[in-house]
Amino acid sequence: MKKKLLSVLLCATMVAALFAGCGSKEEEAAAEPAAEEAEEPAKEAEEPAEETAEAATEGCPGVDGLNIGICIYKFDDNFMTLYRTELQKYLEAGGATVTVMDGKNDQAEQTNQIQNFITQGVDVLIINLVQSSAAEQVTDQCAAANIPVVFINREPEAAEEERWASEGIAATYVGADARQSGTYQGEIVLATENKGDFNGDGKVSYVMVMGDPENIDAQYRTEFSIKALTDAGVEVEKLDEQRGDWDQAKGQEIVANALTANGDAVEVVFCNNDAMALGALQAIEAAGRTVGEDIMLLGVDALVEALENVQSGKMTGTVFNDHIGQSHAAAEIAGKMAAGEAVDVQNMVDYIKVTNENAADILALLQ
Ligand code: GAL
Repeated sequence: MKKKLLSVLLCATMVAALFAGCGSKEEEAAAEPAAEEAEEPAKEAEEPAEETAEAATEGCPGVDGLNIGICIYKFDDNFMTLYRTELQKYLEAGGATVTVMDGKNDQAEQTNQIQNFITQGVDVLIINLVQSSAAEQVTDQCAAANIPVVFINREPEAAEEERWASEGIAATYVGADARQSGTYQGEIVLATENKGDFNGDGKVSYVMVMGDPENIDAQYRTEFSIKALTDAGVEVEKLDEQRGDWDQAKGQEIVANALTANGDAVEVVFCNNDAMALGALQAIEAAGRTVGEDIMLLGVDALVEALENVQSGKMTGTVFNDHIGQSHAAAEIAGKMAAGEAVDVQNMVDYIKVTNENAADILALLQ
């Protein structure tokens, strides 16, 4: 039952929840209580839950017979692997022919892949850019070939999105507002008894492990996690801030170094994603520190391993980066654009805060 309710809850949290996507018709029957039970995204949950209930299907609607090109910034990324697997599954279940390319974290290589898709004459492109700054060039290439493009995960500049609207270009972005995920990380710390101040010196001394700093998700999570603390009147002290490029090994190395340099002074480790938090946990344990007793550890994404750690107390919390909601919205919007429908230039899906109170529910949802 929990799983069913959460499934509905997930649908309910999509700001663009008019796109169908999660759960079967039977699952949606219990939509209303789910919205009420929801702690986090309760805001506007009720109405979208009902709308989603009407539209739920197994495969993506509106893509049958389409030829769709997908470009992922690199395959070797935990979160984007979950995302692309779900995206491909949902599109293929809806009857689309899908080709997925690995950009290998190289914009020049990805630009070639996009060019090939254009030459092949795909109906629509779904692109997770290597560099968001490439959006203008890529958009113009697609527009010249009359191929609509759905950007995912790495949001282009606001000015570029405004250009799509003002020039009537068939381009859009589907993602999540990373400010929300950062804020949720800060709120998880604020909800604890000592609010992150283990040594009682009146301030929270933290280490920040950033993703790729060109990525707006990394920028916003870094800024808004701390802003949540300072907005609540909590004094903070930044002991270290390093880029870990979303990578577990780099997260481990950064936190090991920070713990060597600062010792017990480190009270909270914020990681912009779970892969780096898993690396941070290795470093924390190797240094003889214990999450929940003398240090806090936070991530984002809700990878299964991280959820298990949150459940067992080895991580303080994470934030569910809803790859199911995002990939379904991207797929459905791609179908609409291929059919010539106008869509909004920005489509956001909500995050969900995860602590040991709801980690099991999110785990059940993903399994
Ligand atoms: C973020 C995610 C990271 C990484 C990144 C890639 O949204 O939290 O783990 O996948 O996207 O751009």
